[in-house]
Amino acid sequence: MKENLSISLNNVSSFISFEEILALAQQSVRHLDALNEGTGAGNDFLGWLTLPNDILPQVDRLERIARHLRSVSDTTVVIGIGGSYLGARSVIEALSHSLLPLLKTKNHQILYAGHNICEDYMSDLIDILDNRNYSIVVISKSGTTTEPAIAFRILKDHLERKVGKAVAADRIIAVTDSEKGALRSLAEINGYETFAIPDNIGGRYSVLTPVGLLPVAVSGLDIKSLVKGAKSMEDLTRKNKDATTNPSLLYAAARNLIMQTGRTTEIFVGFNSRLHYLAEWWKQLFGESEGKDNKGIYPSSVDFTTDLHSLGQYIQEGQRIIFETFMSLKNPRKKLTIPIEKDDDDQLNYIAGKRLSEVNKCAETGTILAHNDGNVPIITITIPELDEYYAGQLIYFFEMACALGGYILDVNPFDQPGVEAYKMNMFALLNKPGFEEAAKKIKERMK
Ligand code: PA5
Repeated sequence: MKENLSISLNNVSSFISFEEILALAQQSVRHLDALNEGTGAGNDFLGWLTLPNDILPQVDRLERIARHLRSVSDTTVVIGIGGSYLGARSVIEALSHSLLPLLKTKNHQILYAGHNICEDYMSDLIDILDNRNYSIVVISKSGTTTEPAIAFRILKDHLERKVGKAVAADRIIAVTDSEKGALRSLAEINGYETFAIPDNIGGRYSVLTPVGLLPVAVSGLDIKSLVKGAKSMEDLTRKNKDATTNPSLLYAAARNLIMQTGRTTEIFVGFNSRLHYLAEWWKQLFGESEGKDNKGIYPSSVDFTTDLHSLGQYIQEGQRIIFETFMSLKNPRKKLTIPIEKDDDDQLNYIAGKRLSEVNKCAETGTILAHNDGNVPIITITIPELDEYYAGQLIYFFEMACALGGYILDVNPFDQPGVEAYKMNMFALLNKPGFEEAAKKIKERMK
Protein backbone atom coordinates (compact mmCIF):
# COMPACT_ATOMS: atom_id res chain seq x y z
CA MET A 1 0.00 0.00 0.00
CA LYS A 2 1.26 3.50 -0.84
CA GLU A 3 1.86 5.93 2.00
CA ASN A 4 -0.33 9.04 2.13
CA LEU A 5 0.74 12.63 1.72
CA SER A 6 1.10 14.12 5.18
CA ILE A 7 0.97 17.45 6.98
CA SER A 8 3.51 18.74 9.52
CA LEU A 9 2.77 21.64 11.84
CA ASN A 10 6.16 21.63 13.61
CA ASN A 11 7.14 24.98 12.13
CA VAL A 12 3.94 26.62 13.28
CA SER A 13 4.39 25.68 16.92
CA SER A 14 6.17 28.86 18.07
CA PHE A 15 3.17 30.86 16.82
CA ILE A 16 0.21 28.60 17.67
CA SER A 17 0.21 25.47 19.78
CA PHE A 18 -0.71 22.10 18.34
CA GLU A 19 -3.40 21.84 21.06
CA GLU A 20 -5.13 24.99 19.74
CA ILE A 21 -5.02 23.67 16.19
CA LEU A 22 -6.34 20.30 17.26
CA ALA A 23 -9.14 21.95 19.22
CA LEU A 24 -10.34 23.97 16.20
CA ALA A 25 -9.92 20.95 13.92
CA GLN A 26 -12.01 18.84 16.27
CA GLN A 27 -14.68 21.56 16.48
CA SER A 28 -14.71 21.67 12.69
CA VAL A 29 -15.95 18.09 12.52
CA ARG A 30 -19.39 19.71 12.52
CA HIS A 31 -18.48 21.27 9.17
CA LEU A 32 -17.50 17.83 7.91
CA ASP A 33 -20.92 16.62 9.02
CA ALA A 34 -22.56 19.59 7.27
CA LEU A 35 -20.77 18.62 4.04
CA ASN A 36 -21.74 14.95 4.32
CA GLU A 37 -25.31 15.73 5.31
CA GLY A 38 -25.70 18.59 2.82
CA THR A 39 -26.86 21.06 5.47
CA GLY A 40 -24.31 23.88 4.93
CA ALA A 41 -24.10 26.86 2.55
CA GLY A 42 -23.84 25.94 -1.12
CA ASN A 43 -25.26 22.49 -0.49
CA ASP A 44 -26.41 22.17 -4.10
CA PHE A 45 -22.71 22.00 -5.12
CA LEU A 46 -21.51 18.97 -3.20
CA GLY A 47 -21.20 16.48 -6.05
CA TRP A 48 -17.39 16.61 -5.80
CA LEU A 49 -17.44 14.86 -2.41
CA THR A 50 -18.10 11.42 -3.87
CA LEU A 51 -16.59 11.92 -7.34
CA PRO A 52 -13.78 9.36 -6.87
CA ASN A 53 -16.48 6.65 -7.01
CA ASP A 54 -19.08 8.43 -9.11
CA ILE A 55 -16.72 9.10 -12.01
CA LEU A 56 -15.66 5.47 -12.45
CA PRO A 57 -18.37 4.53 -14.98
CA GLN A 58 -17.07 7.27 -17.31
CA VAL A 59 -13.38 6.38 -17.18
CA ASP A 60 -13.40 3.86 -20.05
CA ARG A 61 -15.13 6.31 -22.40
CA LEU A 62 -12.76 9.10 -21.37
CA GLU A 63 -9.79 6.87 -22.15
CA ARG A 64 -11.29 5.77 -25.47
CA ILE A 65 -11.90 9.33 -26.66
CA ALA A 66 -8.43 10.35 -25.44
CA ARG A 67 -6.89 7.49 -27.47
CA HIS A 68 -8.87 8.65 -30.50
CA LEU A 69 -7.55 12.22 -30.26
CA ARG A 70 -4.02 10.92 -29.75
CA SER A 71 -4.33 8.69 -32.81
CA VAL A 72 -5.68 11.36 -35.19
CA SER A 73 -3.52 14.30 -34.04
CA ASP A 74 -0.14 15.21 -32.54
CA THR A 75 -1.42 18.13 -30.45
CA THR A 76 -4.58 18.94 -28.53
CA VAL A 77 -5.60 22.47 -27.66
CA VAL A 78 -7.51 22.58 -24.39
CA ILE A 79 -9.80 25.60 -24.29
CA GLY A 80 -11.09 26.78 -20.91
CA ILE A 81 -10.58 29.23 -18.06
CA GLY A 82 -10.57 29.14 -14.25
CA GLY A 83 -11.97 25.90 -12.93
CA SER A 84 -12.41 24.67 -16.50
CA TYR A 85 -8.65 24.86 -17.12
CA LEU A 86 -6.36 25.04 -14.11
CA GLY A 87 -6.93 21.57 -12.65
CA ALA A 88 -6.03 19.77 -15.86
CA ARG A 89 -3.04 22.01 -16.49
CA SER A 90 -1.74 21.55 -12.93
CA VAL A 91 -1.72 17.76 -13.29
CA ILE A 92 -0.33 17.74 -16.83
CA GLU A 93 2.49 20.17 -16.06
CA ALA A 94 3.38 18.37 -12.81
CA LEU A 95 3.73 15.00 -14.53
CA SER A 96 4.98 15.74 -18.04
CA HIS A 97 8.44 16.58 -19.35
CA SER A 98 9.27 20.12 -18.17
CA LEU A 99 10.12 21.25 -21.71
CA LEU A 100 7.63 19.09 -23.56
CA PRO A 101 6.87 21.59 -26.35
CA LEU A 102 10.57 21.60 -27.26
CA LEU A 103 10.99 17.83 -27.14
CA LYS A 104 11.51 16.31 -30.58
CA THR A 105 9.63 13.08 -29.86
CA LYS A 106 6.25 11.78 -30.83
CA ASN A 107 4.77 12.72 -27.43
CA HIS A 108 1.31 14.16 -27.82
CA GLN A 109 1.39 17.80 -26.78
CA ILE A 110 -1.23 19.80 -24.94
CA LEU A 111 -1.50 23.52 -25.63
CA TYR A 112 -3.96 25.91 -23.97
CA ALA A 113 -6.32 28.65 -25.13
CA GLY A 114 -9.29 30.55 -23.81
CA HIS A 115 -7.60 31.40 -20.51
CA ASN A 116 -7.04 35.00 -21.63
CA ILE A 117 -8.16 37.44 -24.34
CA CYS A 118 -4.63 38.21 -25.42
CA GLU A 119 -4.31 38.93 -29.13
CA ASP A 120 -0.58 38.24 -29.17
CA TYR A 121 -0.97 34.87 -27.42
CA MET A 122 -3.75 33.74 -29.78
CA SER A 123 -1.82 34.88 -32.83
CA ASP A 124 1.31 33.06 -31.65
CA LEU A 125 -0.74 29.94 -30.94
CA ILE A 126 -2.16 30.04 -34.45
CA ASP A 127 1.38 30.34 -35.85
CA ILE A 128 2.21 27.06 -34.12
CA LEU A 129 -1.09 25.38 -35.04
CA ASP A 130 -0.58 26.20 -38.73
CA ASN A 131 2.02 23.44 -38.67
CA ARG A 132 0.33 21.04 -36.29
CA ASN A 133 -2.14 18.28 -36.81
CA TYR A 134 -4.36 19.17 -33.92
CA SER A 135 -7.58 18.45 -32.02
CA ILE A 136 -9.61 20.60 -29.64
CA VAL A 137 -11.12 19.90 -26.23
CA VAL A 138 -13.36 22.85 -25.37
CA ILE A 139 -14.52 23.09 -21.77
CA SER A 140 -17.07 25.47 -20.27
CA LYS A 141 -19.69 24.53 -17.73
CA SER A 142 -21.90 27.50 -18.48
CA GLY A 143 -21.04 27.28 -22.16
CA THR A 144 -21.14 31.06 -22.34
CA THR A 145 -17.89 32.31 -20.75
CA THR A 146 -16.44 34.96 -23.03
CA GLU A 147 -12.74 34.01 -23.03
CA PRO A 148 -13.14 30.35 -24.06
CA ALA A 149 -16.04 31.21 -26.40
CA ILE A 150 -13.83 33.65 -28.35
CA ALA A 151 -10.92 31.19 -28.47
CA PHE A 152 -13.21 28.42 -29.67
CA ARG A 153 -14.73 30.56 -32.40
CA ILE A 154 -11.23 31.41 -33.69
CA LEU A 155 -9.79 27.89 -33.46
CA LYS A 156 -12.90 26.14 -34.79
CA ASP A 157 -12.68 28.36 -37.85
CA HIS A 158 -8.91 27.68 -38.16
CA LEU A 159 -9.31 23.92 -37.83
CA GLU A 160 -12.26 23.74 -40.23
CA ARG A 161 -10.29 25.66 -42.86
CA LYS A 162 -7.32 23.39 -42.31
CA VAL A 163 -8.96 19.94 -42.36
CA GLY A 164 -12.56 20.53 -43.46
CA LYS A 165 -15.75 20.66 -41.40
CA ALA A 166 -16.33 16.91 -41.13
CA VAL A 167 -12.80 16.03 -39.96
CA ALA A 168 -12.82 19.01 -37.59
CA ALA A 169 -16.08 17.78 -36.05
CA ASP A 170 -14.44 14.41 -35.42
CA ARG A 171 -11.57 16.15 -33.59
CA ILE A 172 -13.57 18.52 -31.40
CA ILE A 173 -14.82 17.34 -28.02
CA ALA A 174 -17.02 19.59 -25.91
CA VAL A 175 -17.27 19.35 -22.12
CA THR A 176 -20.23 21.39 -20.90
CA ASP A 177 -23.63 21.43 -19.21
CA SER A 178 -25.90 18.53 -20.16
CA GLU A 179 -28.59 20.83 -21.58
CA LYS A 180 -27.95 24.56 -21.33
CA GLY A 181 -25.56 27.05 -22.92
CA ALA A 182 -24.23 28.06 -26.32
CA LEU A 183 -21.52 25.37 -26.28
CA ARG A 184 -24.11 22.61 -25.82
CA SER A 185 -26.09 23.97 -28.80
CA LEU A 186 -22.92 24.28 -30.91
CA ALA A 187 -22.01 20.67 -30.09
CA GLU A 188 -25.46 19.45 -31.09
CA ILE A 189 -25.54 21.43 -34.34
CA ASN A 190 -22.06 20.23 -35.36
CA GLY A 191 -22.30 16.68 -34.03
CA TYR A 192 -19.36 16.84 -31.59
CA GLU A 193 -18.76 14.16 -28.97
CA THR A 194 -19.62 15.64 -25.59
CA PHE A 195 -19.17 15.04 -21.88
CA ALA A 196 -21.56 16.57 -19.37
CA ILE A 197 -20.51 18.44 -16.24
CA PRO A 198 -22.95 17.58 -13.44
CA ASP A 199 -25.11 20.45 -12.15
CA ASN A 200 -23.99 19.85 -8.57
CA ILE A 201 -20.25 20.41 -9.21
CA GLY A 202 -18.79 23.91 -9.49
CA GLY A 203 -15.89 24.77 -11.80
CA ARG A 204 -13.02 24.71 -9.32
CA TYR A 205 -14.20 21.44 -7.75
CA SER A 206 -14.51 19.71 -11.14
CA VAL A 207 -10.99 18.33 -11.74
CA LEU A 208 -12.20 14.76 -11.22
CA THR A 209 -14.95 15.13 -13.83
CA PRO A 210 -14.26 15.10 -17.59
CA VAL A 211 -13.24 18.78 -17.16
CA GLY A 212 -9.92 17.65 -15.71
CA LEU A 213 -9.78 13.98 -16.61
CA LEU A 214 -10.23 14.28 -20.39
CA PRO A 215 -7.25 16.62 -20.99
CA VAL A 216 -5.15 14.60 -18.54
CA ALA A 217 -6.01 11.36 -20.37
CA VAL A 218 -5.28 12.98 -23.75
CA SER A 219 -1.84 13.96 -22.45
CA GLY A 220 -1.17 10.25 -21.94
CA LEU A 221 -1.36 10.16 -18.15
CA ASP A 222 -3.10 7.44 -16.18
CA ILE A 223 -6.45 8.79 -14.99
CA LYS A 224 -7.39 5.55 -13.23
CA SER A 225 -4.44 6.03 -10.90
CA LEU A 226 -5.37 9.70 -10.40
CA VAL A 227 -8.91 8.75 -9.37
CA LYS A 228 -7.53 5.98 -7.12
CA GLY A 229 -5.33 8.52 -5.33
CA ALA A 230 -8.31 10.85 -4.88
CA LYS A 231 -10.37 7.94 -3.50
CA SER A 232 -7.66 7.13 -0.96
CA MET A 233 -7.78 10.76 0.23
CA GLU A 234 -11.59 10.69 0.33
CA ASP A 235 -11.30 7.62 2.57
CA LEU A 236 -8.84 9.43 4.82
CA THR A 237 -10.80 12.68 5.13
CA ARG A 238 -14.50 12.62 4.27
CA LYS A 239 -15.83 10.56 7.15
CA ASN A 240 -12.80 10.77 9.44
CA LYS A 241 -13.87 12.62 12.57
CA ASP A 242 -10.56 12.08 14.35
CA ALA A 243 -8.80 15.38 13.70
CA THR A 244 -5.38 13.95 14.58
CA THR A 245 -5.48 11.72 11.48
CA ASN A 246 -7.53 13.91 9.11
CA PRO A 247 -5.03 16.12 7.22
CA SER A 248 -7.73 18.32 5.63
CA LEU A 249 -9.21 19.17 9.03
CA LEU A 250 -5.74 19.95 10.41
CA TYR A 251 -4.76 22.12 7.44
CA ALA A 252 -8.06 24.05 7.47
CA ALA A 253 -7.79 24.70 11.22
CA ALA A 254 -4.09 25.62 11.19
CA ARG A 255 -4.34 28.20 8.40
CA ASN A 256 -7.42 29.75 9.95
CA LEU A 257 -5.71 30.16 13.33
CA ILE A 258 -2.57 31.55 11.71
CA MET A 259 -4.75 34.11 9.89
CA GLN A 260 -6.11 35.22 13.26
CA THR A 261 -2.56 36.27 14.25
CA GLY A 262 -2.71 38.90 11.48
CA ARG A 263 -1.01 36.79 8.82
CA THR A 264 -3.62 37.18 6.13
CA THR A 265 -1.53 36.08 3.12
CA GLU A 266 -0.70 32.43 2.56
CA ILE A 267 2.13 31.64 0.18
CA PHE A 268 2.14 28.25 -1.54
CA VAL A 269 5.80 27.27 -1.87
CA GLY A 270 7.09 24.75 -4.37
CA PHE A 271 10.72 23.67 -4.62
CA ASN A 272 10.05 21.78 -7.87
CA SER A 273 9.23 23.81 -10.96
CA ARG A 274 6.65 21.22 -11.99
CA LEU A 275 4.46 22.39 -9.11
CA HIS A 276 3.98 25.85 -10.62
CA TYR A 277 0.52 25.17 -12.02
CA LEU A 278 -0.57 23.24 -8.94
CA ALA A 279 -0.04 26.55 -7.16
CA GLU A 280 -2.11 28.34 -9.81
CA TRP A 281 -4.94 25.83 -9.30
CA TRP A 282 -4.64 26.09 -5.50
CA LYS A 283 -4.81 29.92 -5.66
CA GLN A 284 -7.99 29.79 -7.69
CA LEU A 285 -9.54 27.13 -5.46
CA PHE A 286 -8.93 29.06 -2.24
CA GLY A 287 -9.24 32.57 -3.67
CA GLU A 288 -12.66 32.04 -5.24
CA SER A 289 -13.92 29.89 -2.40
CA GLU A 290 -12.91 32.02 0.60
CA GLY A 291 -12.50 35.56 -0.71
CA LYS A 292 -15.94 37.05 -0.10
CA ASP A 293 -17.91 39.01 2.51
CA ASN A 294 -14.63 40.89 3.21
CA LYS A 295 -13.11 37.66 4.51
CA GLY A 296 -10.56 35.07 3.47
CA ILE A 297 -6.83 34.44 3.38
CA TYR A 298 -5.14 35.95 0.30
CA PRO A 299 -3.56 33.02 -1.61
CA SER A 300 -0.24 33.66 -3.26
CA SER A 301 2.60 31.47 -4.54
CA VAL A 302 6.31 31.30 -5.22
CA ASP A 303 8.65 28.93 -7.04
CA PHE A 304 11.77 28.37 -4.97
CA THR A 305 14.66 28.64 -5.22
CA THR A 306 13.91 30.95 -8.22
CA ASP A 307 11.87 33.40 -6.15
CA LEU A 308 14.28 33.32 -3.21
CA HIS A 309 16.17 35.74 -5.42
CA SER A 310 13.18 38.04 -5.77
CA LEU A 311 10.33 37.71 -3.25
CA GLY A 312 12.58 35.93 -0.75
CA GLN A 313 13.71 39.26 0.66
CA TYR A 314 10.13 40.39 1.34
CA ILE A 315 9.19 37.09 2.92
CA GLN A 316 12.22 37.24 5.19
CA GLU A 317 11.95 40.86 6.30
CA GLY A 318 8.89 42.63 4.88
CA GLN A 319 5.54 43.21 6.59
CA ARG A 320 4.73 40.30 8.91
CA ILE A 321 1.41 39.49 7.21
CA ILE A 322 2.41 36.19 5.66
CA PHE A 323 2.64 32.50 6.34
CA GLU A 324 3.78 29.75 4.02
CA THR A 325 2.65 26.30 3.00
CA PHE A 326 5.60 24.28 1.73
CA MET A 327 5.01 21.47 -0.73
CA SER A 328 7.85 19.18 0.22
CA LEU A 329 8.49 16.54 -2.42
CA LYS A 330 10.33 13.46 -1.14
CA ASN A 331 11.52 12.14 -4.50
CA PRO A 332 11.78 13.99 -7.81
CA ARG A 333 10.93 11.99 -10.94
CA LYS A 334 14.45 12.08 -12.37
CA LYS A 335 18.07 11.76 -11.20
CA LEU A 336 20.98 14.09 -11.94
CA THR A 337 24.27 14.42 -10.07
CA ILE A 338 26.74 17.30 -10.00
CA PRO A 339 29.97 16.31 -11.80
CA ILE A 340 33.41 16.47 -10.18
CA GLU A 341 36.00 18.80 -11.77
CA LYS A 342 39.70 18.19 -11.37
CA ASP A 343 40.68 21.84 -10.95
CA ASP A 344 37.56 22.94 -9.04
CA ASP A 345 37.80 26.41 -10.62
CA ASP A 346 34.18 27.14 -9.74
CA GLN A 347 34.75 25.82 -6.18
CA LEU A 348 31.82 23.48 -6.30
CA ASN A 349 33.62 20.22 -5.61
CA TYR A 350 32.28 20.27 -2.05
CA ILE A 351 28.94 19.19 -3.53
CA ALA A 352 30.29 17.10 -6.42
CA GLY A 353 28.63 13.71 -6.62
CA LYS A 354 25.49 14.94 -4.89
CA ARG A 355 22.13 14.81 -6.59
CA LEU A 356 20.50 18.16 -7.36
CA SER A 357 17.62 17.10 -5.16
CA GLU A 358 19.98 16.80 -2.17
CA VAL A 359 21.13 20.37 -2.70
CA ASN A 360 17.54 21.48 -3.23
CA LYS A 361 16.50 19.75 0.01
CA CYS A 362 19.21 21.70 1.89
CA ALA A 363 17.89 24.91 0.32
CA GLU A 364 14.40 23.92 1.47
CA THR A 365 15.46 23.15 5.05
CA GLY A 366 17.62 26.28 5.16
CA THR A 367 14.68 28.38 3.96
CA ILE A 368 12.31 26.92 6.53
CA LEU A 369 14.75 27.75 9.33
CA ALA A 370 15.42 31.27 8.00
CA HIS A 371 11.76 32.12 7.46
CA ASN A 372 10.80 30.72 10.85
CA ASP A 373 13.50 32.95 12.35
CA GLY A 374 11.92 35.82 10.40
CA ASN A 375 8.56 35.16 12.12
CA VAL A 376 6.91 33.30 9.27
CA PRO A 377 4.87 30.25 10.34
CA ILE A 378 5.26 27.33 7.93
CA ILE A 379 2.90 24.44 7.29
CA THR A 380 4.55 21.55 5.43
CA ILE A 381 2.73 19.13 3.16
CA THR A 382 4.93 16.18 2.25
CA ILE A 383 4.30 14.50 -1.11
CA PRO A 384 6.00 11.09 -1.38
CA GLU A 385 6.30 11.25 -5.20
CA LEU A 386 5.00 13.23 -8.15
CA ASP A 387 2.74 10.80 -9.94
CA GLU A 388 -0.91 10.45 -10.88
CA TYR A 389 -1.85 8.81 -7.58
CA TYR A 390 -0.46 11.66 -5.48
CA ALA A 391 -1.89 14.28 -7.83
CA GLY A 392 -5.28 12.72 -7.07
CA GLN A 393 -4.55 12.79 -3.34
CA LEU A 394 -3.53 16.45 -3.47
CA ILE A 395 -6.63 17.48 -5.39
CA TYR A 396 -9.04 15.86 -2.98
CA PHE A 397 -7.03 16.93 0.09
CA PHE A 398 -7.11 20.61 -0.90
CA GLU A 399 -10.75 20.55 -2.08
CA MET A 400 -11.83 19.11 1.27
CA ALA A 401 -9.66 21.56 3.25
CA CYS A 402 -11.00 24.46 1.19
CA ALA A 403 -14.65 23.52 1.75
CA LEU A 404 -13.98 23.14 5.49
CA GLY A 405 -12.04 26.42 5.53
CA GLY A 406 -14.98 28.23 3.94
CA TYR A 407 -17.34 26.88 6.58
CA ILE A 408 -14.91 27.84 9.37
CA LEU A 409 -14.96 31.41 7.96
CA ASP A 410 -18.73 31.23 7.63
CA VAL A 411 -18.75 31.89 3.86
CA ASN A 412 -20.21 29.83 1.03
CA PRO A 413 -17.14 28.13 -0.48
CA PHE A 414 -19.01 27.06 -3.62
CA ASP A 415 -20.09 30.35 -5.21
CA GLN A 416 -18.16 33.24 -6.80
CA PRO A 417 -20.52 36.25 -7.05
CA GLY A 418 -17.62 38.71 -7.30
CA VAL A 419 -16.48 37.31 -10.65
CA GLU A 420 -19.50 38.90 -12.33
CA ALA A 421 -18.47 42.52 -11.62
CA TYR A 422 -15.83 42.89 -14.35
CA LYS A 423 -17.96 40.96 -16.82
CA MET A 424 -20.92 43.35 -16.47
CA ASN A 425 -18.69 46.36 -17.20
CA MET A 426 -16.97 44.60 -20.10
CA PHE A 427 -20.29 43.60 -21.68
CA ALA A 428 -21.57 47.15 -21.30
CA LEU A 429 -18.41 48.53 -22.90
CA LEU A 430 -18.76 46.03 -25.76
CA ASN A 431 -22.43 47.01 -26.29
CA LYS A 432 -23.59 43.43 -25.75
CA PRO A 433 -27.35 43.18 -26.39
CA GLY A 434 -29.19 43.36 -23.07
CA PHE A 435 -26.63 45.68 -21.49
CA GLU A 436 -27.91 48.98 -22.97
CA GLU A 437 -28.76 50.56 -19.59
CA ALA A 438 -25.44 49.52 -18.06
CA ALA A 439 -23.66 50.87 -21.16
CA LYS A 440 -25.29 54.30 -20.71
CA LYS A 441 -24.29 54.42 -17.02
CA ILE A 442 -20.74 53.33 -17.64
CA LYS A 443 -20.23 55.88 -20.43
CA GLU A 444 -21.58 58.58 -18.08
CA ARG A 445 -19.15 57.45 -15.39
CA MET A 446 -16.21 57.54 -17.75
CA LYS A 447 -16.85 61.08 -19.02
O1 PA5 B 1 -14.53 27.87 -10.41
C1 PA5 B 1 -15.34 28.43 -11.11
O2 PA5 B 1 -16.57 28.23 -11.02
C2 PA5 B 1 -14.91 29.38 -12.20
O3 PA5 B 1 -13.54 29.62 -12.13
C3 PA5 B 1 -15.25 28.82 -13.58
O4 PA5 B 1 -14.67 27.55 -13.72
C4 PA5 B 1 -14.77 29.74 -14.70
O5 PA5 B 1 -15.33 31.00 -14.55
C5 PA5 B 1 -15.15 29.16 -16.07
O6 PA5 B 1 -16.53 28.97 -16.15
P1 PA5 B 1 -17.17 28.06 -17.28
O7 PA5 B 1 -16.73 26.65 -17.05
O8 PA5 B 1 -18.66 28.21 -17.08
O9 PA5 B 1 -16.70 28.58 -18.59
